[in-house]
Amino acid sequence: MRKQFLNWGAVLLVATWAVAIWLKTYYWIPILLTVLYVVGIYNTFQAKHAILRNFPVLGYFRYFFESISPEMQQYFIERNTDGKPFPRSERSAAYQRAKNISSNVPFGTQLNINNRKYEGIKHSIYAKVPTKELPRVWVGNHQCKQKYHASLFNISAMSYGSLSNRAIVALNTGARKGGFYHNTGEGGISHYHLEGGGDICWQIGTAYFGCRDDNGFFLPELFAEKAAHPNVKMIEIKLSQGAKPGHGGVLPGVKNTPEIAKIRHVQPGLTILSPPGHSSFSDAAGLLKFVQKLRDLSDGKPVGFKLCIGDTREFEEICEQMNALDIYPDFITIDGAEGGTGAAPLEFSDGVGMPLEPALIYVNRTLEKYGVRDKLKVIASGKVLTSLDILRALAMGADMCNNARGFMFALGCIQALRCHNNTCPTGVATQDKMLIKGLNVADKSERVFHFHKNTLLTCNELIAAAGRTSYDEVDASMFMRGDEFEHLSDLYFPDILTHVGRDHQ
Ligand SMILES: Cc1cc2nc3c(=O)[nH]c(=O)nc-3n(C[C@H](O)[C@H](O)[C@H](O)COP(=O)(O)O)c2cc1C
Repeated sequence: MRKQFLNWGAVLLVATWAVAIWLKTYYWIPILLTVLYVVGIYNTFQAKHAILRNFPVLGYFRYFFESISPEMQQYFIERNTDGKPFPRSERSAAYQRAKNISSNVPFGTQLNINNRKYEGIKHSIYAKVPTKELPRVWVGNHQCKQKYHASLFNISAMSYGSLSNRAIVALNTGARKGGFYHNTGEGGISHYHLEGGGDICWQIGTAYFGCRDDNGFFLPELFAEKAAHPNVKMIEIKLSQGAKPGHGGVLPGVKNTPEIAKIRHVQPGLTILSPPGHSSFSDAAGLLKFVQKLRDLSDGKPVGFKLCIGDTREFEEICEQMNALDIYPDFITIDGAEGGTGAAPLEFSDGVGMPLEPALIYVNRTLEKYGVRDKLKVIASGKVLTSLDILRALAMGADMCNNARGFMFALGCIQALRCHNNTCPTGVATQDKMLIKGLNVADKSERVFHFHKNTLLTCNELIAAAGRTSYDEVDASMFMRGDEFEHLSDLYFPDILTHVGRDHQ
């Protein structure tokens, strides 16, 4: 191909130049072809890209189509129930709720509900009228001095750096309007997190951004100073996140702007690695003592930790140590392995950590086994996007839920899958000033507010449809699953129906 390109290209060039000179017009055609020919010659000699070496000009088409492949999928191929990680139907519901327009769907379900994966709510003949009051939950046990009355649904951790400044301001402003909290992510508190006036859950990761010394170790004085801010309502120690458990974050040098470096207390321009583990503790007792230390330094604000469940023996050890040391975190955030991230190695995203459903069931039972369930709140995250997801998480033992990518949809994210390369076309997950300009804070903060509100109002409607009046009544008995009807005999004599009959005999 290279030889053909060089030979035929030269012939074409000579011919077009000759025609243009003869006609004394259309010079732009040979000029354009000359530029392409020079680029092509360069490509035949470069050694980095085999495709471009073999197809010196045509090869660019591959890169172009590859770069717009997520958009092509969405616009021309994807059906309503397709789309990964979130199908179009769920994204649409999030957009519509955020825009405060009807999210009703026409004509009936498009899902195949006659299979074992079906999960539905058992509605009641005696459905109630849904309340308009949005659910709230108290966070803070007897060891906490500044209990916080949190919304049941909040913005999950996403740092300034991973998201743009405008995205952070819009999220925080929406959180203030709706009375819910906004988790800072491990990048720490920036002035953008404070601009909107919303409640903050300050997340502290392994790099202690915002409360570290020059060597990256935890600095108590700096922590105490920042934790005293009245908007900081809760403090979360990040142990791991579902999309990359056991893998530290990376802040690339190019993204480490002087502004971000100042916020994180690091040197600008350097690539900063978050270590995989914490330097402040190395075992369960150390973790709990650190929880207590942060509680003391913050004058008794609620302190908890976030993790994706991996080795279950380690979680049991923490529960054991809670009783031994008499130190109880105020909350534990369980992030499922299906959780999102700005960037992670494929193997970590696809093959490390426990998914949310088994993790919640396990955590809940373990906390009960050690008699500490009532000492703390369990917060669930990991594809908890729709109202059904929220109720399912509550039924499996969560007290509250966090969500990251749903709120990104509210900000206008189109699931372009470019969070990791700074080219997010909607200005949400990028530091590119040109792209960020497209994100209108006033408009998007309203959407964040409405997404939260409408999602919880739909939760209220589902609870009422199940004949219940309060969130305390949400439990597993409210749900039916397709695998209950799996066998043909069950189809005609479903177990659940025979049980009901027996109960009433
Ligand atoms: C862009 C982006 C950045 C994130 N940054 C953090 C972070 O700094 N700390 C953290 O604990 N989790 C982080 N997460 C994970 C979320 O907080 C959350 O746990 C996870 O995405 C849950 O799944 P969801 O997006 O389906 O709600 C991030 C997720 C995304 C999408």
